[in-house]
Amino acid sequence: ALMDKGNYRHFMAKEIHEQPEVLGHTLSRYLDYAKKSVSLPAAEKVDFRSLNRILISACGTAYYAGLVAKYWFEKYARLPVEIDIASEFRYRETPVIDGDFALFISQSGETADTLASLRYCKANAAKIGAVVNVPESTIAREADVTFATIAGPEIGVASTKAFTCQLAVLACLAIHAGRQRGTLSEAAAAALVDDLAAVPSLAVQALNCETQIEKLSQPLSRASNALYLGRGTNFPLAMEGALKLKELSYIHAEGYAAGELKHGPIALIDENLPVFVIAPHDAIFEKTLSNMQEVAARGGRIILITDAAGDHESGGVAGDTVIMPNVPDLVAPIIYALPVQMISYHTAVFMGTDVDQPRNLAKSVTVE
Ligand code: G6P
Repeated sequence: ALMDKGNYRHFMAKEIHEQPEVLGHTLSRYLDYAKKSVSLPAAEKVDFRSLNRILISACGTAYYAGLVAKYWFEKYARLPVEIDIASEFRYRETPVIDGDFALFISQSGETADTLASLRYCKANAAKIGAVVNVPESTIAREADVTFATIAGPEIGVASTKAFTCQLAVLACLAIHAGRQRGTLSEAAAAALVDDLAAVPSLAVQALNCETQIEKLSQPLSRASNALYLGRGTNFPLAMEGALKLKELSYIHAEGYAAGELKHGPIALIDENLPVFVIAPHDAIFEKTLSNMQEVAARGGRIILITDAAGDHESGGVAGDTVIMPNVPDLVAPIIYALPVQMISYHTAVFMGTDVDQPRNLAKSVTVE
């Protein structure tokens, strides 16, 4: 029954729709709802107070989860994070120093480059942590401390529910680190725990925009290029959106930090280039709005993913607007991942590509 598509056309659709549930499972593993605190007994093996930095390595979508986590660890725990694509990290001969905690993120726990990076850090005496979805995997076994995502088996080659569950675990870990290091007060941590506790129901609301996304994906399937823009934790999400569109629909796409628009991608803007803007109405929304105005002035077709306040303030600059529920900053990348996944899913369905098994790709890359 686990390998059953149920009423869905593809495993990917099923896995997208499972997210409210599996995010709930994952969060209940690491949150103490009654005490409004995080609860990660395994993390007691790591003394976050004595750490100088965290080194994160991962591949593909898991790498983007790590990039979001960098913002969180730095903001909530004031802990510097260095993050690398594992295939680069493993050959860079980077110095591993006292006070480094090396963290590896992998759905399968078997990705060759991620595993090699883990072994490099272990050989250099770093403490090793892993966020994995397959508990009996090699990476889980070789790590000193493992934080499981409770996403259940993920069959679709393009990662969906494993990604949002990785984010959920990493958010809990950042809060834990912040409490230990004294950079988050008990009250501040409790407020963040409340934000996370709302994730499953916010995810249900986010899924409600599927009919609209399906409609706007049809013309998209005729585009040959696309651009994704975002700032802050939505910048990694922009890259994840571009990756998904490439993987599933073979449309060339790039994800950029919105602030980099003027440093290159603006040259690509014309009426044929769909520009997805991932922009909840947060403290830097204004900055992203001015980027959108630059795109619109050059005839670019904007698809804005925002909330009601962002829609109101954008004053019709976007051709299409996908409205998300209001979300606290911390959980925005988790909730905004859902429309991003649905855009690439429906575009691929319109194009008739093999959604669950895109050409040339493997679910788990166990050889270099
Ligand atoms: C492949 C998959 C991706 C995944 C990446 C890393 O490229 O298609 O969906 O994000 O590997 O896999 P891992 O199992 O290490 O998370």
